[in-house]
Amino acid sequence: MTLAIRSDALTRRFGKLPAVEGLNLQVPEGTITAFLGPNGAGKTTTIRLLLGLLKPTSGTCEVLGHPPGHVEALRQLGALVESPSLYGHLTGYENVEITRLMRGGKKTETSRVLEVVGMTRDANRVVQDYSLGMRQRLAMALALFGSPRLLVLDEPTNGLDPAGIQEIRELVRKVPEQTGATVFLSSHILAEVEQIASNLVVIHRGLLRYQGPIADLGGQGAAWQQIRVDQAGRAMELLKGSGLEVTFEDPYVLVQASDEGVPALASLLVRSGMALYELKPRTVSLETRFLALLEGA
Ligand SMILES: Nc1ncnc2c1ncn2[C@@H]1O[C@H](COP(=O)(O)OP(=O)(O)OP(=O)(O)O)[C@@H](O)[C@H]1O
Ligand SMILES: [Mg+2]
Repeated sequence: MTLAIRSDALTRRFGKLPAVEGLNLQVPEGTITAFLGPNGAGKTTTIRLLLGLLKPTSGTCEVLGHPPGHVEALRQLGALVESPSLYGHLTGYENVEITRLMRGGKKTETSRVLEVVGMTRDANRVVQDYSLGMRQRLAMALALFGSPRLLVLDEPTNGLDPAGIQEIRELVRKVPEQTGATVFLSSHILAEVEQIASNLVVIHRGLLRYQGPIADLGGQGAAWQQIRVDQAGRAMELLKGSGLEVTFEDPYVLVQASDEGVPALASLLVRSGMALYELKPRTVSLETRFLALLEGA
């Protein structure tokens, strides 16, 4: 398996705060990998480390087989990072032309990427007059320029209207089919990426919580139990303390455990002095599974 992105114990602290801690990333080439985590999880920090915009406190990473910021990696990489820097006094078209002058390519490529993101009509207006969504589309055009081998997109649908979100989603979905490129895109909403991504990387408070095919997180194989007790909070602490994945869905505590584990589970709860009203198998959604990952961190 060739990796488009890999990192080894990648760590970045701001003062004492570990924004990213010991991250071991393995993003297979040719996948659409969604990079998920709540606000402040460390997604943008990770992406900036991968792009060489930020130096790690410790650890290493590689992008397309090169250290971050390496000219060979940058040549084959398209990126969209939080608050993209665009030239406000220039038009959208001129902004793409600057990328073309730096990276080489035909003028038709400039028109193509503007067309792809639906910005042809506004291409000759100056960027300082653009709306947030228009800026985001233009930034996406810059990222797509030259059909890069790897697309790194930090919340590409930020600021877009529902139609725009749908368009970008379709665009991203088609990229690997059309060019064989790898897409690594961040989001804090599972529902927004679950239809297009094949793989997931989940981080929370700078720590890796899951990495692998989205189908495995869905947990066909993983059994869950639904529990109702008199002290849900205490039960959750107790089960988490035993290393189990737990989440809360009022009034139930949901815990990942096989049917064989049920007697031990019941006895643990009862021995701890809890009143057990209900304990039964339960299928959980991808969303519940995702929330359980964040709960445990
Ligand atoms: N330049 C900085 N100086 C100090 N702290 C920072 C800096 N950049 C990020 N952080 C902190 O690092 C943590 C991770 O931030 P980051 O921007 O990577 O999160 P994120 O996952 O991208 O969040 P969001 O979904 O809100 O974009 C946060 O606690 C943030 O406050
Ligand atoms: Mg961010």
